[in-house]
Parts: sequence; C-alpha cells; structure tokens
Amino acid sequence: MSKTAGFDIGSRFLHIAVVKKQGVKRIFSAPLPEGSVREGRIVSYEAMGDFIKETCKKNKIRFDDAAVILPSSLCFCRRLSVPAMSHEQLTVNLPYEFRDFITSEKDAYFYDYAVLRVIHDANEEPVGLDLMAAAALKSTIADYRGMFRRAGIKLKTAIPIEMAYINLMSKNDDPQHCHCLIDVGHTAIRLYMYIGGRFESSHMLEYGCSALDNAIAEALHVDPFIASSYREANHDDCQSLPECMDIYQNMAVEVQRVVHFFRYNNPDVELEHIHITGGGARIRPLRDTLENTLSIPILDATELLNIDADDGDIGLGASGAALQ
Ligand SMILES: Nc1ncnc2c1ncn2[C@@H]1O[C@H](COP(=O)(O)OP(=O)(O)OP(=O)(O)O)[C@@H](O)[C@H]1O
Ligand SMILES: [Mg+2]
Repeated sequence: MSKTAGFDIGSRFLHIAVVKKQGVKRIFSAPLPEGSVREGRIVSYEAMGDFIKETCKKNKIRFDDAAVILPSSLCFCRRLSVPAMSHEQLTVNLPYEFRDFITSEKDAYFYDYAVLRVIHDANEEPVGLDLMAAAALKSTIADYRGMFRRAGIKLKTAIPIEMAYINLMSKNDDPQHCHCLIDVGHTAIRLYMYIGGRFESSHMLEYGCSALDNAIAEALHVDPFIASSYREANHDDCQSLPECMDIYQNMAVEVQRVVHFFRYNNPDVELEHIHITGGGARIRPLRDTLENTLSIPILDATELLNIDADDGDIGLGASGAALQ
C-alpha cells in the first residue's frame, strides 16, 4: 500500500502529513529558514527543494509520492454554476470562465474542477452543475515539480487549499450542516465556509500572527525577531499584553464581519461552529477573544482528522492535500 505525503509550505512553517490507506498516519511541522517565503511565494525553488529533502531525511519521513498545496497567490480558485455538461465540454469551457482573472494566454494555464453539486429539474434530470474550479500557470506547476524532483520526491498533485479541506469533510455530512474553518496563520487569517461538506466561500484578512511581533517588540523594547520567539514561547505571558489584546480584538471584529456577511447571504442555514486551525489557534487569549466576540462554539480542527497527532492543529491543509 503506497504512502502519500501532503506538503503545505506556509510563510513560517513547512507542514507535512503522511497518509496511508486514506488515513492520516503522521503530521510533522518544521520552521522554514528565515525569508524563504515572501508574500506567499517561495523565493528560491532550489533552496526550498534542498530544505524539504533535508527535513524529510532528518526526521525519517518516508512516503512514495507527494501532493502540495498551491498558495492563493499562485492559483485562482472560484465557485461556478454552469449548465449540466460532460467532462469534455467542461474542459473546453473552463478557460473562458477564468478570462477575467488570467493575464497571459489561456493555454499557459492548467485547469481543474471538482463537482460540488448536481442540480436536477422536477423530472430528476440534471440541469446544472455547481463547481469549484481552479487555474494555475503551467510554469508554476513546472517550478513545483522541479522543486520536488530536486528533493528526490515525485509530485503527484498540486491543489488549492479549498479543495484540500473538502477532502477532510465527512462524505455523510448532513446537507444542512454549516460550518466554518478559520486558519489563523502567520501572515493572514483565512475563513472557509462549508455547507454539508460543500465549499461555499472564502475570505482572507491580510494580517496574521506576525502582526503581534511589532506590538510585542515595542512594548518590551526588543527587536521583532526576538519578539517572535517570545510570542511563540509566551515568554512572561507576553501573549496577554494589552497591545496584543487590542490586536486580537481587531482580528475578532474583522472575523465577525465576515461571519455576519455569510449569514446575511445564507439565511436558510445555521452556522453551527467554527473549526480553528493554524498556529494562531495555540494563542489562548486570541482564541478566547474570538469565542467571546463571535458567540459560536470554536472547536479544534483536529476533530476533522482521525488521529491525535501533536501538530494536527496546524497540519490540516497538508492532510487534506495528501488525501487527494
Ligand atoms: N505555541 C504557539 N504559540 C504562539 N504562536 C504560535 C505557536 N505555534 C505557532 N505559533 C505561531 O502561529 C503562527 C501561524 O503558524 P502556522 O504554522 O499556521 O504558520 P504558516 O502556515 O507558516 O502561516 P501562513 O499560513 O500564514 O503562511 C506563526 O506566526 C507561528 O509563529
Ligand atoms: Mg498556513
């Protein structure tokens, strides 16, 4: 039985999940070398390939092939509603659905899709399709393939995070079960809304935990690099500094705004709970502020995995990719 490893290359951490027989067996996270990812993009594919190789070797992470998350800065992902059609017809039509987004020749891109829902008429005949479609430059895929080749790894799939998370949703989920996934990352907070395992929408707030570093640096008169290590270790309870509490409050209000907007657009479903993931989920006062502001139960995203792994809370995207 072959093993697949899912890779989620964040801006601060590399997350790896190993999957065998459709079950997550191991999750591992390693801090990335400083400056190796800027504005969501890998600065040097060669250096990242070497880092991945070394990390897997040093930590005895063994697998047969790999799947990777493509960052939102390098792929377009959108919901589409189209008339019912065959795979061949979709292949021809998808490039036109992205014409407002793509900048170069349409043939320079790869396109992919997942069917979220088939819409039937009164006679049960299929009349429409709800899709999640993605487009990425062929050169981007070649860069990623080259990076993994350098690490001695065969890259099987590259998918956007929205598709990876769907792989973690229960196939038997109640069609009205509405939930939200919040990723409190290093450079961004991202919200993903799902109804009955079907992706509905996403939203990104363009600041994450790194926004706390300047506040901690100023309050404690240290440089932001030191502040970052203080924050992760919660040195002298710096996560509870009033300056940090203000930032949590701003984050919670922004998240609340997105949640209100979603509820307004989807009045027929009840948002039942929020699954929280990303390293920011480990910052207790931030989590408490979110819970108090939103008044919705906040659950560990590890509930979506069937294992109790140390880094399960931050390895969700990598797990979803490996399950593709
Ligand atoms: N125990 C902890 N206490 C406080 N902060 C933590 C802890 N563990 C991780 N973090 C912080 O949480 C943030 C997000 O971590 P995560 O692993 O989600 O980053 P990432 O995936 O690289 O970021 P992004 O998805 O934004 O690119 C980082 O700033 C990290 O320093
Ligand atoms: Mg991340």
